[in-house]
Amino acid sequence: MPFDMPTYNMDMMDATRTDRQPTDWHEHAYDLARGIAAYTASPLIEGLARVIARHPEAEIANAFNHKQVACKRWAREKLFESCGGRFGRIWVLGGWYGVLPAMLLEDHRFEIGIIESIDIDPHVAEIAETLNRAAGERFQARTSDMYALDYAAARPDLVINSSCEHIADVRGWLDKLPGGTLVLLQSNDYFSEPTHINCVASLEAFEEMAGLREVRFSGALPTKNYTRFMLIGTV
Ligand SMILES: C[S@@+](CC[C@H](N)C(=O)[O-])C[C@H]1O[C@@H](n2cnc3c(N)ncnc32)[C@H](O)[C@@H]1O
Repeated sequence: MPFDMPTYNMDMMDATRTDRQPTDWHEHAYDLARGIAAYTASPLIEGLARVIARHPEAEIANAFNHKQVACKRWAREKLFESCGGRFGRIWVLGGWYGVLPAMLLEDHRFEIGIIESIDIDPHVAEIAETLNRAAGERFQARTSDMYALDYAAARPDLVINSSCEHIADVRGWLDKLPGGTLVLLQSNDYFSEPTHINCVASLEAFEEMAGLREVRFSGALPTKNYTRFMLIGTV
């Protein structure tokens, strides 16, 4: 079991339930997500229900935990405030299960042609597609190393990388982007997480590492275990 289930007094449970079999949390999570989707009419929540049903192996509860959601809502708000909502093509690198694209695509303040979520892990594209199915051709997930992409040929209007703590050479990667490209970058000071190979200790350290030519937003969002840093600007 992935987490400790609370022990219930049988009196608290549905009186019609007679079995004492362990509950299938996936089934309950699926039912709950479908209910919340019906109540909120959110394509993202509908997508979460689909992911729970079709990809029980996906760590979707981690990708959609309240801290991840807070960091992505922060990104969406500051992006809108600093750059507006009209983008032809957005690339989200290290895009994982495509949560941020789903949040951007269902926000009616934004007019976005297409969001491509690109990740080096070959297991995540299908899950990201499942999550974003409601977006149709406005969303695409693919597998690639962000260091190997041809940024000059594709010329995305905005490049998002909220996984800077996961890549070894942030400045070396930024050097591959054509001058003037708009970027949104996030990193954090969560040094104790083993998959974080390149955390930064402060916002100033992140600013120095990125060396953006123009900065439209620079800020820090404290959470319980770590602080997330974000920069929006051009290379
Ligand atoms: C744990 S996830 C995302 C964490 C981040 N805080 C977020 O939610 O935006 C980091 C992702 O970066 C991806 N990644 C790491 N190195 C990469 C690379 N060179 N190119 C593309 N994706 C990469 C990993 O496969 C993983 O899915």
